[in-house]
Amino acid sequence: MKTIFSGIQPSGNLHIGNYIGTISQWMKLQQESSNELIFCIVDLHAITVPQDPKMLRQKIVEVAALYVASGIDPKKSNIFVQSENSDHTYLTWIFDCMIPMGWMNRMTQFKDKSAKQAEGTTVGLFNYPALMAADILLYDTTHVPVGEDQRQHIELTRDIAEKFNKIYGETFVPPEPMIDKQAARMMSLQNPTSKMSKSDKDQTGTINLLDSAGEIRKKIQRAVTDSGSEIVYREDKPAVSNLLIIYSKVSGKSVSEIESQYQGKGYGDFKKDLAEAMVEFLTPIQKRYNELMKNKDELSKILDAGAEFARHKSSKKIEMVKKVVGLGR
Ligand code: TYM
Repeated sequence: MKTIFSGIQPSGNLHIGNYIGTISQWMKLQQESSNELIFCIVDLHAITVPQDPKMLRQKIVEVAALYVASGIDPKKSNIFVQSENSDHTYLTWIFDCMIPMGWMNRMTQFKDKSAKQAEGTTVGLFNYPALMAADILLYDTTHVPVGEDQRQHIELTRDIAEKFNKIYGETFVPPEPMIDKQAARMMSLQNPTSKMSKSDKDQTGTINLLDSAGEIRKKIQRAVTDSGSEIVYREDKPAVSNLLIIYSKVSGKSVSEIESQYQGKGYGDFKKDLAEAMVEFLTPIQKRYNELMKNKDELSKILDAGAEFARHKSSKKIEMVKKVVGLGR
């Protein structure tokens, strides 16, 4: 049996990179009935950079609704909000007291993110990977489906588990990252050398799951392409290759099928069809999302049940940790 844990920060709009890079993997894992699945809305991670409180609350519910609308089935998966289980922050402190500073200093995402903080970097942002390790290790997670940018954090999580086990005895399961090779790093439609990102100020390069059909068509039409007119997946064609993967993931066709479909045709036809495939793909997700947002009772019940499951499971691990570390009486 695999135990799967993953999460997304409610720090902006969920986009097609998040969907293709992670949620689509979650859906596949959901099809294997023996898996235990835990999907979290990591609001404590979101506050490692400044957030507007009202907006944050709204985004937490929005992300939860998008999980369900995208096909995460609460009968098969546990969905909860990270801050509703305080065991995550409890375990983070214990990890803080055993992680060498040097391990944290190596984290490349911290370096990138802190460089962008106009108001200065917080201790929380530095400590982000320790909280992520706690998320994962609390539940005896065996596999963590994520995008490529999270690989280093999962390697760190393994190191933390192994170090803890060495000092205190077998307590944590070192997890494996699960990264979809093709969709590991979806790029901005405006700049194929930079990752599609929630925090990108220029949202024209990002297709959000809640974008209207008009916005989607406009963004795809304006997407940058490469020199030459061939529609092929090739290293020297980063922009077109990125569009081909997106097309493949939303249409269910393989990249080579799409390449042959557009042999001898231009970018115009390709983009027009991609935009329609995207609209067709997102329409049912948006419809279900709107239903869930109209009647929040259903969503509340899902998140309450998820939090209860999470607290129950993690409390056993915390008791064990307290005992082996020597905390309390
Ligand atoms: P976040 O919210 O930044 O991203 C959520 C997930 O989406 C993936 N992702 C992408 N995948 C492909 N192409 C992209 N352009 C792209 N942009 C984002 C990310 O890799 C991630 O899987 N630290 C995590 C949240 C987290 C977490 C966890 C994940 C907290 N605790 C425990 C797994 C397990 C993050 O930054 O999410």
